[in-house]
Parts: sequence; C-alpha cells; structure tokens
Amino acid sequence: MPLPATPTIDIDRETYEQVGLPIIKKAGVEHKIDFIESEAVPALDKLLENPENEGSFDFAYVDADKVNNWNYHERLLKLLKVGGLVVYEHTLQSSSSIA
Ligand SMILES: C[S@@+](CC[C@H](N)C(=O)[O-])C[C@H]1O[C@@H](n2cnc3c(N)ncnc32)[C@H](O)[C@@H]1O
Repeated sequence: MPLPATPTIDIDRETYEQVGLPIIKKAGVEHKIDFIESEAVPALDKLLENPENEGSFDFAYVDADKVNNWNYHERLLKLLKVGGLVVYEHTLQSSSSIA
C-alpha cells in the first residue's frame, strides 16, 4: 500500500524551493511530499480538523520560528502516534535549553 504524502509546511515557498526541495529531489521522494505554504500553526490546526490525522504520524521535524515551538508541540502531540517522535532543531543553543 503506498504511503500517504507527508505534509511539509513553510511560510515561504521560495525558501522551501531553495533549501529543502533540492534535497527532497535528490532523495527521489518529491512525489511523497505535500508542500503547504502557510504559517505553521494554522496549517497544523487544519490538519487537526481531520480526525483521521489525529495520532497518525510517526515523526515530526520542527525547524521554524522558535518562539512558536510550544504552539507546535501542543498540536504535534495530538497528531503523533503514541511513541511517535518529534525533533526540534536548535533546542540547545549556547549551552542553554530553549525548549
Ligand atoms: C532554518 S529554515 C529551515 C528550512 C527547512 N528545515 C528546510 O530544510 O527546508 C526555517 C524555515 O522556517 C520557516 N518559517 C519561519 N517561521 C515560520 C512560521 N511561522 N510558519 C511556517 N514556517 C516558518 C522559514 O520560512 C524558513 O524556511
């Protein structure tokens, strides 16, 4: 059974096309990515509107505006499966925790 497309959210399509997309293409998985151009909080809220998405994700990677990490975390806990993994970029900066 083919896997559903993986949502990838960025407020700025140009940055996604310059940074993430070349790597996604190199890995040959562009067809598995559902790019959503949006602020991440409303995009996550929209994913949560579909009850099928709740508890359905194995993994989330967050590398956006750090000030919203808690807002992302609240929503991701609902979207991830029990035992799912969420990874935050740069949670340890200058030897101090910001998560
Ligand atoms: C350091 S870059 C990470 C790029 C990404 N990890 C990748 O590999 O393509 C941070 C990204 O977060 C995006 N971003 C910043 N604030 C955001 C927000 N509130 N909602 C969605 N994306 C946001 C920026 O546009 C930028 O592309």
